[in-house]
Parts: sequence; structure tokens; C-alpha cells
Amino acid sequence: MGENVGTTRKNIVIGVGGGIAAYKVGSVVRHFTEAGHHVRVIPTESALKFVGAATFEALSGNPVSTEVFADVPRVPHVRLGQEADLVLIAPATADLMARAASGRADDLLTSTLLTARCPVLFVPAMHTEMWEHPATQANVSTLREHGATVMTPASGRLTGVDTGAGRLPDPQEISLLGELLLDRPDALPYDLAGVKFLISAGGTREPLDPVRYLGNRSSGKQGYALARAAAQRGAQVTMVAGATSNLPDPAGVEIIRIATAAQLADEIGKRAPETDVVIMAAAVADFRPVQVSDAKIKKSDSGPAPIELTTNPDILAGLVAARRSGSVPRSTAIVGFAAETGDLQHGVLDHGRAKLARKGCDLLVVNAVGEGKAFGMDHNTGWILAAGGEETALPLGSKTLMATRILDAINAVRTDGVGAEGRCP
Ligand code: CTP
Repeated sequence: MGENVGTTRKNIVIGVGGGIAAYKVGSVVRHFTEAGHHVRVIPTESALKFVGAATFEALSGNPVSTEVFADVPRVPHVRLGQEADLVLIAPATADLMARAASGRADDLLTSTLLTARCPVLFVPAMHTEMWEHPATQANVSTLREHGATVMTPASGRLTGVDTGAGRLPDPQEISLLGELLLDRPDALPYDLAGVKFLISAGGTREPLDPVRYLGNRSSGKQGYALARAAAQRGAQVTMVAGATSNLPDPAGVEIIRIATAAQLADEIGKRAPETDVVIMAAAVADFRPVQVSDAKIKKSDSGPAPIELTTNPDILAGLVAARRSGSVPRSTAIVGFAAETGDLQHGVLDHGRAKLARKGCDLLVVNAVGEGKAFGMDHNTGWILAAGGEETALPLGSKTLMATRILDAINAVRTDGVGAEGRCP
């Protein structure tokens, strides 16, 4: 799934509950073994009715057992949990979460959960009714109070003909969150419950004719990472997404697809008045062709016709103006991004500082681009510049890790009211 930055070998326990989604967990096991980690799979008895032990043994390269009375001299029910750097449970069924929340230790997996002192990530998958039942929701709250991260499930097609919340998130999303917790165990506090986020991501495409457009190299990964992390910290997230590389949908996020800067401006403009935090991570085309041809533009003997361009609205600056005029609430935090290359006179940070002042947003995340940096990569580095003058360096890390640091900075703006124009939350 991308370049590894100095992976050290960690002990990962992957617990598998008895649900049909167990068949998807093989790719999560594979992700962690391929990243060089030591993986032990602990299924429940009922998980083995869906996927055989041989599959998990082959994928992890380690023996698989469900019960505490196997291999007794090595005390696996205590040792596996104590030695783990991450315990990831997928699918976390309603029954398994109920047993974990009440501290049962009636099989190897629940015993391991009681002895683990590392980050624990539950990935629920079940029918919508079971997920929404007050008993399940109470168990989810208990597990969160005990310090575990419980992923918000995806919505979509379930096992039968029904659709709704309760689907297992894309295995890539699960692996990314597992990696995040290995990097930073406290990365996903449930601290944004009820906060409304509006996040733009990806690149816009400005059509020239039915087959051609002016576009850019944005992969959308940073915007998706922000949506992923915010949703898992409890936020209500709407993401307006332009063109991206082939990315899975982050779980629990409402996604609106757009193509052009004008469509993006329209969607952001409609939603910003109802939003607590707006993050403009999209790479917006500054210009669009004046004329869009209905038919494919043909070659002509006189050579190519010049393309006349006109300027697109600056959505970020427009949001700041709308907040000043009162059509966007004064309490709404506004965050921009700047991808800069620097030049001989001015470094990347100088350009970032000038852009922050020009745009008037609360925070500006600055990345250096060019020479294989930022665009399309899984890891990134940069700075967060705040309107109050603070500057925070973002060390090299995954885009999801960077997203959590950006969310921390947004929390500081919202609670301290240190944003642009001395806003108060
Ligand atoms: N942005 C926007 N609307 C535009 C252009 C940019 O909202 N028409 C937002 C981007 O989403 C980003 C920030 O403004 O959050 C900075 O984008 P960038 O392209 O770096 O800014 P520009 O003002 O276009 O500056 P430059 O001249 O460096 O391209």
C-alpha cells in the first residue's frame, strides 16, 4: 500500500469474530505480514465456521488457536496480549464486543484482550439493527471508555439485500488505522463527537471539450486521510471529492463527488453555513477555459488554437469573507492548504506565511512539493501555520498521522479561540 518509512517489526494480534466479513480480514493479515510485522491471528470458534484456520496460518505464517488450553506451558492467554503492540479485532461482532465490554475471558481472544496494554482497535461489522441497538451502542461506549478505538462502520450493501450502517470498512482503511495506532497510540481519541466537518479533497478538472480537461496531480490522499481520522474521532464528516487516485471510501463519511471548481464552490458554499470546521484540502484549478466545446476539438492545419482562460473563484478566500459578513458562523474554523515549491528568493515557509496572510484563514498546512514530494505519496511532511503566529513542524509520517496532528491544531483553535480575527468559539 505504499512506501514504508523505517518500519520496525511489531507484534500484531488480529482477532477474528464470527461474521461473514471474516473472509475480508485475510488482506489485513497480509498487509501487516508484508510490512514486516509478526502477526498472530486469534479467531473465535464461530469465526472458524466462516474461514478455516489453515487460511490464517498460511497468511500469518504462525499457528492459529482459539482456546486457552492449547500450548499451556507457554501460557498463550497471557503472553500474546502482554507482548502485543496492537490488537485489531475484525470483524468485531455484537456478541464479541459484548463479551469484551463485560470483561469476559472465556476464550483465547477475550483473555488476550484483558491482558493487552497496547492500542486495541475494534472494527465492527453486523446488520444495521444490531449495530444501532442500544445494547450494542452501550458496549461500544464502554469499550471506548476503557481506552479502545471502535471504528465507525461503513454504510452500504450488507450480506443480504439490505443496506445501511454496519458494513466492514474497506480492508485498506482498517490497515491504515492499525498503522496509525502503531505510530501514535493516542491518535484517535473520541473527542470530536457531534462536530460537523466539511472537507474538500482531490483535484478539480476543468473541461475543454467532451474528452479533454485541465487537471492537476492531486491524489486526494491527504483530504481522505483527514476525513478518515475526523470520522473515527467521532466527527460528522462530509467530504466533497474531486478527482483522486483509486482510493477506498473512508468509513462513516458522506461523500459528494464533483468535477469542476465551480461545482466545488457551489457544494462548499451550500454547506459551510451549517459547519463547525471547513478544511480546503482540494487542489483547485485557478483558471478554467472560457469556452467549453460541445464537440471534440479537431486538429487543424493552422496549428493549435490558443486556449483562453478565465479565473475561478477563490473558495477559501470566499469562505473567510462569508465569515466576516456573518453568512458563515463566526465560530466556524477555516483551514487551508498550500503546496509550495519555493524559489531562489523565497523558501516554502515564506510563501506559506504570505499565503496565510492573503487568505485570512485560521490555519494553513504547508507542504513542499516537487522532486517526488507530497503528490501521490503515502507519507508527507510540512508545517501548520496559525493565524496567531504559531508554527508547528510536521515530521515525516503517514498522511493519516499528519491528519491527526492537523485535527489537534484545529481543536486548539476551536477551544482557545486563537484563530484569525481573534475569533471566539
Ligand atoms: N483554493 C481555493 N480556491 C481556489 C484556489 C485555491 O479555495 N480557486 C484553496 C485550496 O484548496 C488551498 C488554498 O486555497 O486550501 C491554497 O491553494 P493554492 O493553489 O496554493 O493557492 P493559490 O491562491 O492558488 O496560490 P498560488 O498562486 O500559489 O497557486
